[in-house]
Amino acid sequence: MAATESRQITLSESPSGKLLTSNFSLETGPMPVPGDGELLIRVLYISIDAANRAWMQGRTYRDQVLPGTKMAGGALGEVIVSNSPDFAPGDIVEADMGWCDHVALPASQVQKRKQRGPLTHLQSILGITGKTAYFGLLQIGNPHAGETVVVSAAAGAVGSVVGQLAKSRGARVVGIAGSDKKCAWLTDDLGFDAAINYNTEPVMKALKCDAPDGVDVFFDNVGGDIFEGVLFRMNTHGRIVCCGAVSQYDTDTPTHGPRGVPGLIVTKRLKVEGFIVTDFHDQFAKAEAELAGFAAQGSIKVAEDIVEGLENAPQALVGLLSGENFGKRLVHVADPQS
Ligand SMILES: NC(=O)c1ccc[n+]([C@@H]2O[C@H](COP(=O)([O-])OP(=O)(O)OC[C@H]3O[C@@H](n4cnc5c(N)ncnc54)[C@H](OP(=O)(O)O)[C@@H]3O)[C@@H](O)[C@H]2O)c1
Repeated sequence: MAATESRQITLSESPSGKLLTSNFSLETGPMPVPGDGELLIRVLYISIDAANRAWMQGRTYRDQVLPGTKMAGGALGEVIVSNSPDFAPGDIVEADMGWCDHVALPASQVQKRKQRGPLTHLQSILGITGKTAYFGLLQIGNPHAGETVVVSAAAGAVGSVVGQLAKSRGARVVGIAGSDKKCAWLTDDLGFDAAINYNTEPVMKALKCDAPDGVDVFFDNVGGDIFEGVLFRMNTHGRIVCCGAVSQYDTDTPTHGPRGVPGLIVTKRLKVEGFIVTDFHDQFAKAEAELAGFAAQGSIKVAEDIVEGLENAPQALVGLLSGENFGKRLVHVADPQS
């Protein structure tokens, strides 16, 4: 018998300081009913992203997630009912579905996805994660063979792809991550040349040894002290790709700084460029085809970290912010029925 109820996770209160699972509540309501031009979608996998926390702070590229509303989040789903000529039951689709098990959305807000390889790849290597690494590194950082690339949050979703792409360009790659276990994984399993545990050694000092020729490209996911540590080791005409600032998301009191700005940017003639992956929307199809090729050949190892059950989404995000994840974290909600 078809389900008559659906579940969603609401941000019940704004976090004060660090995000807690108690900031969320699990609610049950009637199954959504799609209107004209809308789809009813069964949610399959929810993408857990560092940015989910930043959305609660506001001041990002999207509307703030306010207390009392469904937690926002990108997800992959399967169409169950279509009131649009452009979609059919069984289609695999992507949208900001939020943290829920079923959702009704206008077809105009939903993107059809073509499966290549495992379904989960549509949210990791072939999703926003892989594309962020691809465009940020290749179009903004643009590393050449023999240059040194440093990436922060290197064992995370974006960082683990950045490092592998940089290796494929012939660069020396140094990852920065939060534990010895992650550092060993980066060098032993993903082929990074070196990795620095920022919790046990100062980044600036460690780079003297691990990046002896200085840093040509810094792909920064973290901001704050790590940004500062790498800034002091940049080579003249180096490129800093500002992808995100996760060290500043899970707090009410973001740090000032980093030091060395703008002085070092001027004297070292650095190019510092921020981006949002959707800036490259018109090139997504080409990037996806190339990334699918890398994954199929095994030249990029796709690391996925899958948490089971919608009810565990809050812990999945809290855990990601404290560094639990290796690679792309997803919440598995359901399997496709067709
Ligand atoms: N510009 C864009 O279009 C775009 C698109 C997607 C993502 N992003 C950005 O990419 C970055 C990575 O996002 P993601 O979703 O792929 O997450 P992720 O890297 O999979 O997970 C976040 C990681 O950040 C690290 N971290 C947490 N707090 C930290 C701190 N205070 N200092 C240093 N490291 C910390 C943790 O690893 P450790 O154990 O190493 O600490 C954690 O695993 C974020 O900054 C996000 O905003 C940007």
